Amino acid sequence: MGVVPFGLKPALDQIAAELDVAFDQLLTVPQDSRARLYEAMRHAAMSGGKRMRPLLVAAACELFHIGRDHALRVGLAVECIHVYSLIHDDLPSMDDDDLRRGRPTLHKAFDEATAILAGDSLHALAFELLGDEATHPDPFVRAELTLELARASGPAGMAGGQAMDLAAEHQPLDLPAVTRLQQLKTGALIGFCVEAGAIMGRVPPDSRTGLRGYAREFGLAFQIADDLLDIEGDESEVGKKLGKDAAAGKATFVSLLGPDQARRQATLFVNQAIEHLRDFGESAALLRAIARFAIERSR
Ligand code: IPE
Ligand code: IPE
Ligand code: MG
Ligand code: MG
Ligand code: MG
Repeated sequence: MGVVPFGLKPALDQIAAELDVAFDQLLTVPQDSRARLYEAMRHAAMSGGKRMRPLLVAAACELFHIGRDHALRVGLAVECIHVYSLIHDDLPSMDDDDLRRGRPTLHKAFDEATAILAGDSLHALAFELLGDEATHPDPFVRAELTLELARASGPAGMAGGQAMDLAAEHQPLDLPAVTRLQQLKTGALIGFCVEAGAIMGRVPPDSRTGLRGYAREFGLAFQIADDLLDIEGDESEVGKKLGKDAAAGKATFVSLLGPDQARRQATLFVNQAIEHLRDFGESAALLRAIARFAIERSR
């Protein structure tokens, strides 16, 4: 995976293995005519992927000594939303992509209707997971997790950002507009990952400023890295078709700033993200390593 900061590789490998086991159990294929739908969900959900969002949840949970089981279930819920968003993002009516995580996109491997339904199903499963008592014994914690994931996924979050992203193909955007778009499209879900640790750690909202700052700066750096990979990544490593943003005439940090300035800006965001963790000691080591990974990654 290119340069992976010291100590991060085992954490990435571990969460990836745990997620695969969890998806395998969640998506047991039934012996009826829904089998194709479940097979499709497995194709999309158990196909590699960095699992960076579940790792963020786990890292934020480490700050507050939350049990691994709880962290994993919330990470699984976020990954369900993320995978659903990628399935729909790749559809012909959106980015019309053929390659995802080094394999055919879901509508190519199956068909469009199945891809839409697989996305719908993963979306619903995310909230089923959060609503289940196994995720957290306290119903108030479960309700807050549900509320925040809904906010991060919907029109005020990921789906809203996707709408802005589509509109960006037809209108020029400046830096503040691109920042706002990316904060919704990518940042909101990343924000939830970190916030989930604070929710389960019962940190009151007005004491979450540092964590929210970390997530905000991290999300922007992560998206700049995605945009840089789109112009200068290695397709076989990134596992998706590259050069799409420029071909669509999309304003991104990279198109607005140029690659060198964008890279400097991403480093600045990472340093600021890490600075937001100054009140946390060693327990935030993993969050710091993930922040560095955001821009050093090659996929
Ligand atoms: C890709 O996300 C889409 C963006 C929001 C930038 P990731 O880069 O996390 O994709 P996977 O999960 O590793 O495939
Ligand atoms: C999509 O952004 C982010 C989502 C919310 C799914 P992109 O369209 O840039 O993601 P990739 O490059 O296809 O992974
Ligand atoms: Mg897109
Ligand atoms: Mg896309
Ligand atoms: Mg992209």
